[in-house]
Amino acid sequence: MRKSKNPPIPSSQITPKELFVNRRNFLKTATIALGSISLAACNLFASKDLAAPSAESTQIVDELGDRANSFEDVTHYNNYYEFSTNKSAVAGLAKNFQTQPWNIHIFGLVNEEKIYDLDDLKRKFPSEERVYRLRCVEGWSMVIPWVGLPLARLLRDVEPTSNAGFVRFETLDDPKRLPREASPAYPWPYQEGLRLDEALNDLTILAYGMYGGELPAQNGGGLRLVVPWKYGFKSIKAVVNIELVEEKPETYWNTIAPREYGFYANVNPQVPHPRWPQSTERRIGEASRRDTLLFNGYSDQVASMYAGMDLVANY
Ligand code: MTE
Repeated sequence: MRKSKNPPIPSSQITPKELFVNRRNFLKTATIALGSISLAACNLFASKDLAAPSAESTQIVDELGDRANSFEDVTHYNNYYEFSTNKSAVAGLAKNFQTQPWNIHIFGLVNEEKIYDLDDLKRKFPSEERVYRLRCVEGWSMVIPWVGLPLARLLRDVEPTSNAGFVRFETLDDPKRLPREASPAYPWPYQEGLRLDEALNDLTILAYGMYGGELPAQNGGGLRLVVPWKYGFKSIKAVVNIELVEEKPETYWNTIAPREYGFYANVNPQVPHPRWPQSTERRIGEASRRDTLLFNGYSDQVASMYAGMDLVANY
């Protein structure tokens, strides 16, 4: 795994070395402990009497030692065009969006088409905590502790047939609940797609929670895809339809601006966006920029899927 550069630390936060070493040990333990939090904790944090945990209080780090962003950052700096193009307006506009009940229909090239109720799905499959970096194509990033399940578990449950090559995902299509879907200027509903091997990769999850609690509507609740080695626009929110298909499906941003937003959209510091470089990024909450890592730092787990493929031509 490639190491990220250490972010600059304000002098007010510089800690004597002995304390720092102890703190690192604590952080590691805390991450592992958090990894074993079960659904009981989800219910605990979902309780209205408790404040949502912040990265400050839980000291969550990812596998590179990068600290999770605060709950406040993650839930108030959002891209969700069905509500607004203004990142800080999404949380307020989404506050009455109902994420329960939530149904997910899996169909197409499968032996067993299914409709899952999200609560049944949570009971049927064990939940997992994954602390991932999210790198937006716009040049900012965050570290987010998700709760969910590997997509592969769900796909195996419906048994894709041998001619299934890709998976297509679709956001809820309901302009009464997602108001900007009423605008004819965009190809709603938001759609995304993965090649079947990408969808089956262990890093790919469907998230229904974060920070050990429920997944807030502004982050894609009821259910949201998370593909951490790809630009954030691949991580489609409010998923209700998952279809197994033979050919590469059309996707929302690729349809709008194919030169700017590829189908694969793997994080790659060497492939600039036509309007800005992708070699560095701004981690929300940090003052200076840091280097962007190939595959967002997940090369060990994903690079083999692209062996022999031209990553520039197939951005
Ligand atoms: N999914 C839907 N349905 N609509 C969107 O506008 N924005 C995408 C992605 N999923 C988007 C979406 C983009 S561009 C990013 S960077 C991430 O969601 C942002 O996720 P976050 O708000 O949880 O940080």
